[in-house]
Amino acid sequence: MKTIGVLTSGGDSPGMNAAIRSAVRTGIDRGMHVFGIRHGYAGLLGEEFVAMTARDVSGIIERGGTILGSARCPEFATPDGLARALKILNNRRIDGLVVIGGNGSQTGAHALARLGFPVVGVASTIDNDLFGTDISIGVDTALNIAVEAIDRLKVTAESHRRAFLVEVMGRDCGYLALMSAIAGGAEVVVIPEVKVDPEDIIRELRSACERGKGHALVVVAEGAQYNATGLADYFRTHPHPSGFGLRETILGHVQRGGTPGAFDRLLATRLASKATELLADGKHGVLVGFIKGEIATTPLDVVIANKKSLDLDLLKLAHVLAK
Ligand code: F6P
Repeated sequence: MKTIGVLTSGGDSPGMNAAIRSAVRTGIDRGMHVFGIRHGYAGLLGEEFVAMTARDVSGIIERGGTILGSARCPEFATPDGLARALKILNNRRIDGLVVIGGNGSQTGAHALARLGFPVVGVASTIDNDLFGTDISIGVDTALNIAVEAIDRLKVTAESHRRAFLVEVMGRDCGYLALMSAIAGGAEVVVIPEVKVDPEDIIRELRSACERGKGHALVVVAEGAQYNATGLADYFRTHPHPSGFGLRETILGHVQRGGTPGAFDRLLATRLASKATELLADGKHGVLVGFIKGEIATTPLDVVIANKKSLDLDLLKLAHVLAK
């Protein structure tokens, strides 16, 4: 393999730049030319290719976001889009592709792989909903941002005897909500994986108040049956004798924009380096992830066919610790 491309796709996640840097420098080390493709699959179809040198990725390991830019590109997944992508890659003599991204991005990678194009995926999404890795690039940083926000909200909640509804990202997965609830010491956590009755939440808050708590935190996953706005609306239109005043805060994209922590920089560096080494060795059609403390590869068709499950024992633990 002489020339490879690297792209970041889907929602950006802190650590993507470390992954780009690692792919570029590992590729050069293996004697390959490396092209960055700007704006994910949209940039591939728009032929936004940039030759990358080791210097082009200087000073980016500490930066959040992605210097290549990212996008969601439904057109890529169409037969026409895929055919055009293949033609462009072949015309430009790109022999293989490193795709850094989450579920949508790896679905695109799988589609290319099925057409015979050499692709290796790198697990990157703050949602931690990708099969084939215990943890993805960006999760740790996003989690720390959520926990810091919860810590801050607790301070003001305590001053005013309030309960806060804090909404965290995660699409349809409750991982970030559950982990930030445990790490932040929240009283209640609401996740998409479990049905919720808002009346139960009121009862929990009332009970927390009666147990002498001066504030309460309800961490809500954005993809839950009721998000923070839905719950706040419910509480506004139903009597809620919880004992606390209520406020809601939606963290949203604040969680994605952070400076990557050391864990994400190292994870990104190791995963992207492995992905590039695999391509250099003529191995492809897999996702590179991190399983049981080791770098591990999983075939892209297995990644795409499976849904990652959340350990619901941790939900029980969150309840126990909210005493
Ligand atoms: O997949 C990452 C993520 O941040 C999800 O948590 C969220 O649902 C979604 O992307 C938001 O997408 P966008 O940035 O396109 O609004």
